[in-house]
Amino acid sequence: MDETKKIDRRTFLTGLGVTAAAFGLNACCPMGIGTCHNKLDLVHGNDQSLYPIYDGEKYVAKDFSYLSQNDKLGLSPAMVSHHLGLYKKYVDKVNQSEAEMRAGNITEFGMKNLAFSLNGMALHDIYFSNMSTEQSSASKALSKAIEESYGSFDSYYRNLTELAGQVTGWSITALNLLNGKLINYATADHSANFPAFIMPILALDVYAHAYEMDFGADGKENYINVFGEIINWDLVSRRYDALMMQFN
Ligand SMILES: [Fe+2]
Repeated sequence: MDETKKIDRRTFLTGLGVTAAAFGLNACCPMGIGTCHNKLDLVHGNDQSLYPIYDGEKYVAKDFSYLSQNDKLGLSPAMVSHHLGLYKKYVDKVNQSEAEMRAGNITEFGMKNLAFSLNGMALHDIYFSNMSTEQSSASKALSKAIEESYGSFDSYYRNLTELAGQVTGWSITALNLLNGKLINYATADHSANFPAFIMPILALDVYAHAYEMDFGADGKENYINVFGEIINWDLVSRRYDALMMQFN
């Protein structure tokens, strides 16, 4: 296997968040057992904007600074810059945590920190790359999947934002890899109650640090409304399409 494919597979699997089953998929190929899901590698290898990047040795922070320079975003440069700083710290932290775990320094703190930092990195990667002031819309395939799971786009999106209002961490749209259906779920922080086999395709950060500087402590609803105007549905659709290739 060439280096590019190794990186791509690792990068893709990292995006799964909880990866026990995914590592099972990965392990089957080199041993010649089971079905090798080559399409997963090809999909991510063609589009590194979908999920976090792993360069073979460490995770690499993406440059989302263009967001802080976009005066149409609806979020202030100061708040976005501060938020991007947090994201970069998660990238550093997960690199440190993985290195310690690989070295055999397995502690309860280390394990919790690894999950918290890895998800913190991955969800922020998805969140920031979700944002665009360019007009976009969900693909036919994603729209159909949303309607099948929630009846209509409006019902789906209302559910996503209602969940966001109830938690202090994240509201997420994900593909359940076990049944191929979309599901919204919410978490109190990066790693609490994170279900296995669930792959995020859209992430809405509702930590106070995501909105309080601009909208105030009571401004969560206004922030969510702004977020709704800048979702990059094209990218969300591409994530969905890439993941669904394994069901085809
Ligand atoms: Fe955040």
